[in-house]
Amino acid sequence: MKIVVLAGGISSERDVSIVSGSKIAAALRSKGHQVVTIDPYIGYEQELSSIDSLFENQYDFTDNAVIEKKAPDIEAVKKSRKNQSNVYFGDHVIDICRAADVVFLGLHGGEGEDGTVQAALKMNGVNYTGSDMLGAAIAMHKGVTKGIFLNSGVPTPKSKLYKRDFMVDGYLNSWNSFPCVVKPCSAGSSVGVQIVSDRDGLVAAVGAAFRYDDDVLVEEYIKGRELSVGILGGKALPVIEIIPKNGWYDYENKYQAGATEEVCPAELDPKIAERMQREAEHAFEVLRLKVYGRVDFLLDRHNSFYCLEANTLPGMTPLSLLPQEAAAAGIDYPDLCEKIIELSLNKRQSLPLGGKGDRVSGG
Ligand SMILES: Nc1ncnc2c1ncn2[C@@H]1O[C@H](COP(=O)(O)OP(=O)(O)O)[C@@H](O)[C@H]1O
Ligand SMILES: [Mg+2]
Repeated sequence: MKIVVLAGGISSERDVSIVSGSKIAAALRSKGHQVVTIDPYIGYEQELSSIDSLFENQYDFTDNAVIEKKAPDIEAVKKSRKNQSNVYFGDHVIDICRAADVVFLGLHGGEGEDGTVQAALKMNGVNYTGSDMLGAAIAMHKGVTKGIFLNSGVPTPKSKLYKRDFMVDGYLNSWNSFPCVVKPCSAGSSVGVQIVSDRDGLVAAVGAAFRYDDDVLVEEYIKGRELSVGILGGKALPVIEIIPKNGWYDYENKYQAGATEEVCPAELDPKIAERMQREAEHAFEVLRLKVYGRVDFLLDRHNSFYCLEANTLPGMTPLSLLPQEAAAAGIDYPDLCEKIIELSLNKRQSLPLGGKGDRVSGG
């Protein structure tokens, strides 16, 4: 197959995405596919004589990708693009995607994970991997996710959503449980997440979180074990436990080699693991997710577990959580990448715009 792997973009998870994209491309090439990698924001900046030759030469911009300790400087990335228009897609991106049999979304966060890239690809008749616009948009917003969890009985920590436009002096006095966790609703990779122990800390952390987002979630702090459940084809993979060697699972601990220990399958009472897997599938379904994803949990010392969020485009390096879980289930990394494509194509291959699965609106 001719495959485009989209990686990079302008979210704070850009660096992580480029590493995922590089590994996905290599894995798919090892399976005999013709794979091109493109950064959807930067695009293809050289002269493009023929798209066919890009596939023949398996053009790849991801060489030597690394994840720095801190999230990347996105303003610098934007300045570096030759095309300084306000269009998200860089030069030739859509044309190159249209020439592929399928686009593998190696993006994380931002436009890649919030449904907008999915919508743009759909409108251009391009097949892509993973969730559709609706599920991606829902799961990207931690406040909307919470509302659905509460309505559907998915266990989740108590929380309150604060909107920048409604903030008045003393508004945060309505929150009285410490320690607590402050999160911008639409960031990821723990960017902007802060754990605070008192009201002064809360006021400062909420103010800082508004730099990332207009909506900020304040959540009860759950002391316990950190677990995650990958989903493939709607079914849960084995549970993985994440044990940071120092501190909590922040950006640095997520991506610096050796900073965390991961245990898969997690050492859990099998009944708890089973319940968590069913709850992960339930969360995946009520959030309208498709094909694959990863659902994050905390488990407290009373063996109660809480669902934090779902990731529609989870990290996809071979050492990322979901690939480790797939490996524990006997699915190696190249097979996983192919399986994601196969499941995605079965879901929507060749559906014309407005075809099966697209509801016709009445009135
Ligand atoms: N309610 C909570 N109690 C304790 N730790 C939390 C809580 N919420 C988040 N965390 C910590 O912050 C990390 C990131 O939070 P999460 O909601 O998964 O957002 P994201 O991964 O999108 O940044 C979690 O993996 C966990 O380590
Ligand atoms: Mg998370």
